[in-house]
Amino acid sequence: MDGNGRWAENQGLERLAGHKEGAKSVQDIVRAAREIGLEAITLYAFSSQNWARPGAEVLGLMNLLRDYLFEERPEIMENGIQLRAIGDIEKLPDFVREPLDSLRNDSASNDKMVLTLALSYGGRESIAQTARALAEKVASGEMKAREINVESFGQAMPTAHLPPLDLLIRTSGEQRISNFLLWEAGYTELCFSDLLWPDFRREALYASLEEYKGRKRRFGLTGSQVESGDLAP
Ligand code: IPE
Ligand code: MG
Repeated sequence: MDGNGRWAENQGLERLAGHKEGAKSVQDIVRAAREIGLEAITLYAFSSQNWARPGAEVLGLMNLLRDYLFEERPEIMENGIQLRAIGDIEKLPDFVREPLDSLRNDSASNDKMVLTLALSYGGRESIAQTARALAEKVASGEMKAREINVESFGQAMPTAHLPPLDLLIRTSGEQRISNFLLWEAGYTELCFSDLLWPDFRREALYASLEEYKGRKRRFGLTGSQVESGDLAP
């Protein structure tokens, strides 16, 4: 979700006004995703690197997150959305972590859609943490080094609860991944939108999904193998 700051600057407003408007896009996109019937959506709300932004902006973002958790709670519960989080959650201030933990617990058995918030999240960080956890299991004898493979590594990742990542959308015209789901995006379709995140509303999501539908996914196979049927992993 990129481009809140530029959106605000374009309007002659403070950056925080862009983050506020961006929260409206979050609401609209999550609603649309649920209505379409998407199984899961993961939002990159705050990166491990975002902590280095000016203190006032970090605090403003944390306040918005807390507001989001309180304001969206009824809709999340009423619509059977399961809220999850990935990232270094323990780094979040108590006034965010507490409502987050409470909504994660209360929505744990909801099964209509999984909404995962990536908070204090970095793709490299999550791979390194998983590698460390597996190394500790090997060191303690709980696991053998030869048991580490793509399958078991993926199962140890914080995103193991999610289906394979089909589509990754980056807004604001930047064509980079910026430390988002690096491991998970191995065979993901990438879609870049020139819209700034506050302007990215449901019509833009529909357009990205249309673009995705036109992609031919081969997963390393040849086109004719895929066309002939059941060889895709
Ligand atoms: C939102 O956009 C991303 C967050 C960190 C919340 P930015 O704040 O990165 O906006 P730009 O890139 O400065 O326009
Ligand atoms: Mg940015």
